[in-house]
Amino acid sequence: MKNVTRRDFVGGSAAAIVAVAGPAGASDTAASNDKVRIVAISCSPRKGKSTATALQVCLDAAKEVSPGIETELIELAGLRINGNVAAGVPLEPGERDDFPSLVPRLKDPKVRGIIIGTPVYFGNMSSLCKAFLERCIVLYQPDYALSNKVAGVVAVGGTRNGGQEATIQSVQMSLFCQEMVVVGNTRPSSRLGGVVWSGIEGGVLKDEFGLTTTKALGRHVATVALQMAGPGRPA
Ligand SMILES: Cc1cc2nc3c(=O)[nH]c(=O)nc-3n(C[C@H](O)[C@H](O)[C@H](O)COP(=O)(O)O)c2cc1C
Repeated sequence: MKNVTRRDFVGGSAAAIVAVAGPAGASDTAASNDKVRIVAISCSPRKGKSTATALQVCLDAAKEVSPGIETELIELAGLRINGNVAAGVPLEPGERDDFPSLVPRLKDPKVRGIIIGTPVYFGNMSSLCKAFLERCIVLYQPDYALSNKVAGVVAVGGTRNGGQEATIQSVQMSLFCQEMVVVGNTRPSSRLGGVVWSGIEGGVLKDEFGLTTTKALGRHVATVALQMAGPGRPA
């Protein structure tokens, strides 16, 4: 099997990329350095629950676009992230702060796509998600570290129409403020992103519509990230 280099991605659509690179699953043939990384951040305070499950589906779909994609799921559950620090309010003496450990994982130039997943809480994102996004202000100035990275959003609610789309839009606003290239999901239902229902019997993996939108989002983020990883991309 031919090794896949970044050059293979240049100027190609996702279909062309797959055709050049070979079938999905051949990821061990690609040199790790050439890979484009997509990171998903689960902003549920509950580790390994619906939001993390939906994001893993999203990442798996992203990975299927090309062997040139690698993925990472980061769960914020259990991490201490105090949003007030973004406004210059100091931590209490001895207060734990886990946000700085995330910074290099987000700034890494290999990371070309970031997918934010949040539970829907009263028609909006979780407080953990808001605190995380506010703390990301350190990635804005002076380096604009998230600028031109591709972004997508998955929202998981306990009811079918529990405010997932409003939640996605709310998260997207801060991603636009970071100069990210915000994309939604693609056909057959081209809209805002992954809209997932956890309250369905059997959980999110039984939510056919939610899975369709979430997989389409993963593929879209991966496709655009690959296209932008070629030479000539904006600095
Ligand atoms: C404080 C709170 C508010 C919630 N508000 C909504 C809501 O407005 N709409 C909705 O569909 N589900 C709502 N839910 C349900 C969660 O979105 C749902 O259980 C989700 O799957 C949680 O994600 P997780 O399993 O990853 O923790 C709420 C849950 C909590 C705890």
